[in-house]
Amino acid sequence: MNLTLKIWRQKNANAKGKMVDYPISNISPDMSFLEMLDVLNNELIEKGEEPVSFDHDCREGICGSCSLYINGEAHGPDRLITTCQLHMRTFKDGETIVIEPWRAKAFPVIKDLIVDRSAFDRIQHAGGFISVNTSGNTIDANTIPIEKEDADNAFMAATCIGCGACVASCKNSSAMLFVGAKVSQFALLPQGQVEATDRVLNMVKQMDEEGFGNCTNTGACEVECPKGISLENIARMNREYLSASLKG
Ligand code: SF4
Ligand code: FES
Repeated sequence: MNLTLKIWRQKNANAKGKMVDYPISNISPDMSFLEMLDVLNNELIEKGEEPVSFDHDCREGICGSCSLYINGEAHGPDRLITTCQLHMRTFKDGETIVIEPWRAKAFPVIKDLIVDRSAFDRIQHAGGFISVNTSGNTIDANTIPIEKEDADNAFMAATCIGCGACVASCKNSSAMLFVGAKVSQFALLPQGQVEATDRVLNMVKQMDEEGFGNCTNTGACEVECPKGISLENIARMNREYLSASLKG
């Protein structure tokens, strides 16, 4: 395949960025999108030019770091996959592919296609944990009966990989799908009840302080989420928040 890549280049957080065109040829349709960027970077290094910085780690849809906005969509045109799971056969020979970083005030660009997603870490630190009795009287989680539906929904919420595609695809840069998933995975289980009130209040407070926008029920986040996290998690978080506010 022969392609033209239009890539956002930005030296650092304070520099002015711009789109730069890179023609690339002999790309196999079976390559992953990140392998294609590896080929480009090898060529740039051989020419003595600065390679394109982009985030990646597991390259198998688990870590959530490969945050790229491709042809106007978070993680590209396919559904329920991350950028590292996207293959070049999705594109046509001769196509121009536009590659940008996530765009959100709370995710500032560090360099080229890499953004700072530490705001998500701070939200997790505010409440994304449970307390467990480790005094020797610990109850084995498998001995606590949990409704199948609750267990399934908690598991589904826990599959959120913190990639930030929900924020990038939202016109308000809202993080409510991410926070809804993180609140839900504990709200549905008995183990999550100890800190339930503080958790939702603290995580939502941190989310607001980080500069994420509010949810206006557009639903773009659910469509672009590579893990299929449902909007029901936002509704559950809102119920948890209301109930915690009344208690508080
Ligand atoms: S809710 Fe989906 S899109 Fe948002 S961070 Fe989690 S996995 Fe990524
Ligand atoms: S590199 Fe880990 S999810 Fe893509």
